[in-house]
Amino acid sequence: MREQLNSIRERAEKELSSVEQIQDLENIRVKYLGKKGELTQVLRGMGTLSTEERPIIGQLANEVRKLLESKIEETGKKLAEMERSRKIAREVIDVTIPGRRKFLGSRHPLTIAIDQIREVFIGMGYEIAEGPEVELDYYNFEALNIPKGHPARDTQDTFYINENILLRTQTSPVQIRVMENKKPPIKVICPGRVYRSDAVDATHSPIFHQIEGLVVDKGVTMGDLIGTLQVFAKSLFGENSRIRLRPHHFPFTEPSAEVDVSCWTCGGKGCRVCKNEGWIEILGAGMVHPKVLEICGIDPEVYSGFAFGIGAERTVMGKFNIDDMRLLYENDIRFLKQF
Ligand code: DAH
Repeated sequence: MREQLNSIRERAEKELSSVEQIQDLENIRVKYLGKKGELTQVLRGMGTLSTEERPIIGQLANEVRKLLESKIEETGKKLAEMERSRKIAREVIDVTIPGRRKFLGSRHPLTIAIDQIREVFIGMGYEIAEGPEVELDYYNFEALNIPKGHPARDTQDTFYINENILLRTQTSPVQIRVMENKKPPIKVICPGRVYRSDAVDATHSPIFHQIEGLVVDKGVTMGDLIGTLQVFAKSLFGENSRIRLRPHHFPFTEPSAEVDVSCWTCGGKGCRVCKNEGWIEILGAGMVHPKVLEICGIDPEVYSGFAFGIGAERTVMGKFNIDDMRLLYENDIRFLKQF
């Protein structure tokens, strides 16, 4: 039995010296000191010993048990300490690493300008109206007094879904949709995206934006239109801005005009930006054609109205001195973060 106890001590000490995991330590404890452990078995067999041997072996067994218990406790502490250091090493925080900076985005220049235009008109009592970008031929052309085969369609070629459905070429169809649903007084603007099958260059894009305006009431005159556009130009391009109307033709307004703003760079003297003209065209406008009012069920003998369509890209390019429209769509951060 003495040898048995010595062997238990030796093997247990050897195993304890190489243990690395808490779980293995527990297994060793169970193996020797557990209910069915080796040392426990030896102690149980003590009854077979002689009276002389019993206290001697008993003492030896107790010593081995105490020794193993204290070694197991010691090893347990060591393992816990090691685990703690490993954890600290794993979780180390280097406070000298530079922080990750969050960049705050900015609004797109088109959004800035369109929002500003909206504000100007909301300030004059206008409401915002919207219409679909995938539009019926009827609203985009027909009801605007541009029947099939009309030459005005040539300058507004677009993308057709089928013969009667297309991507709208202008925000003017929203005028019709508004007048169909609401009777005068009407005072709306409708900002939106429009499409034309134009090739991309510095001043053209197959997708661009317009801001449509429509006012219909009793006694609305061309003077109201001009005054309104003057307020718009001054708010957007500064107090010294002037506007100029050139006679033009739009099938849905009569009379019609193209409207220029005095050059925002030279103030009208002539420079590179305005190609020495002193003026820059930014919108089309006119008095709503009586036929259009009639199509929408509004009596042109009682009511009159004016309408206009502002080119958003032109306005933005002027406001921010941008010389190439493509910059607005390329999403180059170096460009966008300047606004
Ligand atoms: N929609 C026209 C265009 O894209 C611009 C325009 C002209 C709109 C006259 C109007 C208007 O409302 O009355 O060229």
